Amino acid sequence: MPERTPYIAANWKMNKTVAEAAEFVDALLPRIAATQSDVVICPSFLALSEVVERRRGTAVKVAAQNMHEEASGAFTGEVSAPMLAELDVEAVILGHSERRQSFGETDEALARKVPAALAAGLEPILCVGESEEARDGGETEEVLERQLQTDLAGLESGQLAEVVIAYEPIWAIGTGRTATAEQAQHACAFIRDVLRMRGASADAVRILYGGSMKPPNAADLLSNPDVDGGLVGGASLDPVEFAGIVEAAG
Ligand code: PGA
Repeated sequence: MPERTPYIAANWKMNKTVAEAAEFVDALLPRIAATQSDVVICPSFLALSEVVERRRGTAVKVAAQNMHEEASGAFTGEVSAPMLAELDVEAVILGHSERRQSFGETDEALARKVPAALAAGLEPILCVGESEEARDGGETEEVLERQLQTDLAGLESGQLAEVVIAYEPIWAIGTGRTATAEQAQHACAFIRDVLRMRGASADAVRILYGGSMKPPNAADLLSNPDVDGGLVGGASLDPVEFAGIVEAAG
């Protein structure tokens, strides 16, 4: 089985001004200098350039939190993949549950966004995850499979390994309720199986867990064979806490 490099991403959501982003990067870089993991910072659109410039010469990558599927056009307020690539942004979060729930992001739009990101040279970090109701109803696998099949429908099987998947159970996001290590492992292994059935080199795909990951629970979650990293919200806002999670990943 190929070794998968751990992948730890900081999803700042709608937090941090440009000045605060700069301060964070300056505080983080010396703390993670020894890491072998991929470390990715996902600031607001406005702070992307500042973070890109501050991390130059380091291995830290920068991701946007969303993008439009078209390259340009009459879409007031939107940002496209080529615009992000021009800034030397390397990746983009797609399909975060907050975008699905609050901004009407659909699986059909994601089926167009994922290939559009790859076409522009951006690494998609595709988020999938079930609601509390779906988990309680025993429908977790059904929801995950439906999201993956639809969202990745626009890709050839050979492209699937270029996508990072984040398993983010909605009931664990920002709630302080973390999935158990067993729940995270089970869901991430299931996601890998779905990708394998879709013809992907599934052993090469990085699959992350997201939902109240913090320094005290990170090592436990990340020790699972199919959990290759984390998409971290609240605990990514503090450089010391985030560095603690990077350290737990090795
Ligand atoms: P959280 O957010 O770590 O604050 O739960 C994770 C996410 O939404 O990506």
